[in-house]
Amino acid sequence: MIEIKRMIAAAIADKIRMINENSGLDAAAVFEMLEYPPDTKMGDLALPCFKLSKSLRRSPVQIAETIAEGFELRGVAEASAVNGYLNIRISNDYLAEKILPEILEKKEKYGAPDLGEGKTVVLDYCSPNLAKPFHIGHLGTTVIGHSLKKLHEFAGYKCVGINYVGDWGTQFGKMMVAYKKWGDKKTVEEGGVDALVDLYVRINNAISDDPSLADEARAEFCKMEQGDEENLALWRWLVEKSLKANDETLKQLDVSFDSYKGESAYTELMPAQVQKLRDCNLLKIDDGASIVDLEKYGMPPCLILKRDGSSLYPTRDIAAAVDRMDMYNFEKCIYVTSNQQILHFQQWFKVVELMGYDWYDKLVHVPYGTVSLNGAKLATRTGNVVLLKDLFAAAIDKSRSIMEEKNPDLRGRDDIAEAVGVGAIVFYYLFNNRIKDINFNLEDALSFEGNTGPYVQYTYARTCSILEKVKESYGGKVVISCDEESALLKTLSQYEERVRNAIRDYEPSVIARFILDVAFAYNKFYHNCQILSAEDENVRGTRILLTEATKNVLGSAFSLICLKKTERI
Ligand code: ARG
Repeated sequence: MIEIKRMIAAAIADKIRMINENSGLDAAAVFEMLEYPPDTKMGDLALPCFKLSKSLRRSPVQIAETIAEGFELRGVAEASAVNGYLNIRISNDYLAEKILPEILEKKEKYGAPDLGEGKTVVLDYCSPNLAKPFHIGHLGTTVIGHSLKKLHEFAGYKCVGINYVGDWGTQFGKMMVAYKKWGDKKTVEEGGVDALVDLYVRINNAISDDPSLADEARAEFCKMEQGDEENLALWRWLVEKSLKANDETLKQLDVSFDSYKGESAYTELMPAQVQKLRDCNLLKIDDGASIVDLEKYGMPPCLILKRDGSSLYPTRDIAAAVDRMDMYNFEKCIYVTSNQQILHFQQWFKVVELMGYDWYDKLVHVPYGTVSLNGAKLATRTGNVVLLKDLFAAAIDKSRSIMEEKNPDLRGRDDIAEAVGVGAIVFYYLFNNRIKDINFNLEDALSFEGNTGPYVQYTYARTCSILEKVKESYGGKVVISCDEESALLKTLSQYEERVRNAIRDYEPSVIARFILDVAFAYNKFYHNCQILSAEDENVRGTRILLTEATKNVLGSAFSLICLKKTERI
C-alpha cells in the first residue's frame, strides 16, 4: 500500500499546487496526512481536508471537492468528497495485479523497509542483575528489546544485541555469604535456578532477621573488589550459573545475544572517562562524592564516584557507551528498561553531551511500564517476585490442558503447548503500548478467542492446514470476487508501513495489532468464502494464493515479535 499511497499523495500534491502554488505542501506532507479510515465503507484512504484549510484558505468541503473532481490514477477506483474528507478507494485490479503477486514473490522479504543498509544499531536489553532471580519484571525489556532488534534487522540494519548483565554488585556479596553458610557445589550444579533462588531467598530473609549479615555481605564484596582470589573464583562461578539459569528461560523465547559484556567489564575503562570529565571541568565534589551538576537542565546531579572512590551505575553506562561507539560506530544505541530509569538515562545522556561526544543524540532510551500478575499466585517461593520461568510454566501447563481437551490427538503436543503458552504471554504483553502498566491475567491471555496469542497462532495453523491439502500451485488468473478478499489484501498490504511505524516509535505493539488485523481479516474471509471447495477454478486458485500470502505475512510478522509459528494447534 505504501507505493500507491505515495503515488496518491503525489497526485494530490499536484492538485493542491493548482489551487495554490505557494502552499508549501508537497507529496511527503500529504503522505503524512493520509489516514486509514476506521470504517472501510468510507474508503481505503482518506485525506482530512480541514488540515489543509488554513494554508489553502478555503473550507475543507471546497478543498475535498476540488481535489476529487477528475481525480484519476492507476490503481484508484474512486475518489470522492464527503464532508470535508477526500475518500479514496483502491481498485481490485491493483490488488490482484500488484499487491498479491508482490507478497508471493518477495516471500519473507515482503514488507521490509529499506532503511538500514550499512548502518549498525546496538540494542541493550534484558540486562538483568545476576545472582538475583530472573523475574516477571524482565519480560518487558527482553521481548521489547528483542522485537526492536528483529524489526531493525528486517529493515536492513546490522544489529548487535547486548545483554549488559549486572555482574558486579553487592548482591554477589550476599550470595557469597549464603553459599558459604548453606550452599555446596553439587546442590547448585544440580539444582540450577531453583537452588540459586533458594539461596537468594534464604539470605534475604536472614538479613531481615539479623542485619549484621548485611555487613558480612559487604565485607565479602569488598574482599573481592580488592582481588581476593577465592571470592573472585566464586564470583565467576556464580555469574556462569546465573547466566545459564537465565538462558533456559531465554531459550523458550528464542532470544539470544551477540554480546554479554556486562557491568564488570567496565571497571578498567571507567577511569579514562572520569579523567575526561575532570578535564572538561564537569566534576564537582559534593560531600566527598564526585558529581556532575545538572541543575541548569532541571535535573538532579549525576553521581559519578562515591565518597570511597568506587564507581556508580551512570559511570559504567558512560564508559560502556564510549566503548560501544568505538567498537560498532552505531547509528543508534537503544536501551530498553523500565520507566523507573527514565531519569537515570536523561542524566547520563546529558553528561555524554556535555563531555563533547557528538554522538550523544544517537543514544535512545526506550522505557516501558510495570508488569504485575493478577493474584500473584506464583510468588510463593520468593516472597514477592514472580519468576519468569514460573510464569511460563504456568502458561504452558494451561495451554497443554486446553489442547488435551480441544484436540486430544494432536501430534507433538508438548512443543506446541510451549509455543502457545509462551506465545500467549508475549502477545498479551506486546499488544499494549509499551509505556502502559500491565496486569497479567493468564485466563485472558490464553483464551482462543479475542485479542490473544492463541487466536493468532491458531489462524496461522489454519492457513498451514489448508495449504497442506493443496497439491499443485496455482499459476492462473487472479480474480477478486468478493469484499472479504479485497479487505484481506488491503490489510496485508499495510505491512511495510506498520513496520516503519513500529521502528519510528520503538513500539512492537504496532506489529501485534497488525497481526491481529490480519488474523481478523483472514478469519472473516475463511468463514464467508469457500476456499478449497470453491467451484470456479480461478476463484479457488486465487483464494489459495490469498491463504499463502496470509501465511507469509503472518509468519514474518510473528518472527518480529518473538511469537513462534505453529503449523498445528
Ligand atoms: N541491570 C540493570 C537493572 O537490572 C539494567 C541495565 C540496563 N542497561 C543499561 N545500560 N543501564 O536495573
